[in-house]
Amino acid sequence: MTVDALSVRLSMSVAATHRLLAAAVSLRLVERRTGSRFGLGALGAAIVGNPGIAAMVEHHALLYGDLQDPVALLRGERRATSIGRFWPYAEAETPGAASAADVAAYSSLMSVSQAMLADDVIDAYPIARHRCLLDVGGGEGTFLATVAARAPRLQLLLFDLPAVAARAEARFAALGLVDRAVAVGGDFRRDRLPSGADIVSLIRVLHDHDDPSALLILRAIHAALPPGGTLLVAEPMSASRGSDPVGDAYFAFYLMAMGSGRPRQPTEISNLLAAAGFRDIESMRTRQPMLTRLIVARRSTAVDRC
Ligand SMILES: C[S@@+](CC[C@H](N)C(=O)[O-])C[C@H]1O[C@@H](n2cnc3c(N)ncnc32)[C@H](O)[C@@H]1O
Repeated sequence: MTVDALSVRLSMSVAATHRLLAAAVSLRLVERRTGSRFGLGALGAAIVGNPGIAAMVEHHALLYGDLQDPVALLRGERRATSIGRFWPYAEAETPGAASAADVAAYSSLMSVSQAMLADDVIDAYPIARHRCLLDVGGGEGTFLATVAARAPRLQLLLFDLPAVAARAEARFAALGLVDRAVAVGGDFRRDRLPSGADIVSLIRVLHDHDDPSALLILRAIHAALPPGGTLLVAEPMSASRGSDPVGDAYFAFYLMAMGSGRPRQPTEISNLLAAAGFRDIESMRTRQPMLTRLIVARRSTAVDRC
């Protein structure tokens, strides 16, 4: 559209529309076209094509509020934060008590942003060769819905807080997946995980938790897997060449404001996995390490232990 047409559409003066467009062009959100028109630029098209980006950007208003006094956060002087309230399980004694209203906003943000990485994880590891996948902390089932389409013979299990598992159950029903996908509610720091899966995925979960809780979760997964079973840990990690600012600046400060967890280096995750009893721990390449890296590990077998 032309500046004049956009100024009418946006209810802004022509001067203000010029100012906005010049800023958007400099950020590659918008680009100049022929006939004095402006259209979507490369990054603008990426945002329109990935609703998760806009949702993430919008919820950052909470984080920026918390970061107004970063020194207080670093000194541990601020307990109640807006981003901590957004993720009510982060420091909760009984996260399982979270209501449907408590989990709605973060579950839908996770769901809409999951679309950006699900295919990267599935492309990096051949999940379809397994029989049954359990997604721990699987949110409202968006990752499993993507897997369902790409691995039509795989059975699917999901474990998350009861109010979140209820959302996953509704999604599986809406997608006609009830024959293949079951959602189980519980607290992975206290309850046993469902057994029967030969592969478990843990996507964007470990970094939310401090080491003691992370170890509890990994031990619970180890107990739920059969000997030789596989665990996939997928999340953005620290000290990742090319995406260090995302791990070491963005996620490190985000999780500090949230109240628990931290982005870990692949070696730190490998050490936690080994402490929980996993073997054959291997890092696998993903397309966009900024969004997720991948570590694969195996539950030891009786032969391994000899
Ligand atoms: C950052 S979200 C990731 C969701 C999903 N894996 C994804 O990547 O979109 C973390 C998930 O862990 C779940 N969670 C947090 N604490 C939990 C607990 N104690 N027991 C079970 N699930 C929990 C949350 O409800 C949430 O769905």
